[in-house]
Amino acid sequence: MKSVRSSALLNTGDRYGSVAIVLHWAMAVVLVLLLVMGTLMVGMPDVGYDRAKITWILVHKAVGVAALLAVALRLAWRAANPLPQLAGGLPEWQRFLARFVHLCFYGLMVAIPVSGWLMSSAGGYPVTFLGLFDLPDLVPVNPKHFRTWIDVHRWLAYALALLALVHAAAALRHHLLLRDDSLRRMLPGYGAAAASSTSPATSASAAETA
Ligand code: HEM
Repeated sequence: MKSVRSSALLNTGDRYGSVAIVLHWAMAVVLVLLLVMGTLMVGMPDVGYDRAKITWILVHKAVGVAALLAVALRLAWRAANPLPQLAGGLPEWQRFLARFVHLCFYGLMVAIPVSGWLMSSAGGYPVTFLGLFDLPDLVPVNPKHFRTWIDVHRWLAYALALLALVHAAAALRHHLLLRDDSLRRMLPGYGAAAASSTSPATSASAAETA
């Protein structure tokens, strides 16, 4: 019983475990939230000390730091678990592109919050760690660099939004047109469904060849 439970948590060579699935969807929600919140808040009126805008920026920074923590957890989990193989029958260039997009996601999920942190440091604004204490400044205060980091942060965020669209379109294409298990494997309950749809004969032959 214990091994069944822990095997549902962990990845295997052909499916994601529930921890990876929860991390994937939680990060997706948080990143979309940060993209929308960031875009809306910079468009808010900047009348002196506009409290609403400042509150949104503070919330954005706190959630952004939490996202950085979550991506560290996700990278650690990915390193400690087998990586399920991509759906069978894909041409080599599509396998390469899929892995490249995943790699870019990880790069951007680290680079965007770090660029936000660099921006705040260069602007002389503190960044708190979940409201508990201030994180150290990464660079000295420099108004020119502050403006550069704003641009870097913005363009990295736009690149993430574009990548998320490509990624979602590819997942839907696999699900609706190619009708393979690419998307289903990232949904809860796939492991159990796949196991119950495996006939005893298939299981026996799989066990023989394992
Ligand atoms: C993955 C995490 C994050 C995402 C996806 C994200 C996304 C965005 C986006 C889309 C904008 C609007 C850019 C524009 O249109 O000009 C923005 C602005 C901003 N972000 Fe983030 N952000 C993240 C993390 C952070 C972190 C960790 C900090 C600071 C610690 C931060 C600080 C800011 C600030 C201060 C602005 C306003 C910049 C301005 O005044 O123009 N962000 N962010």
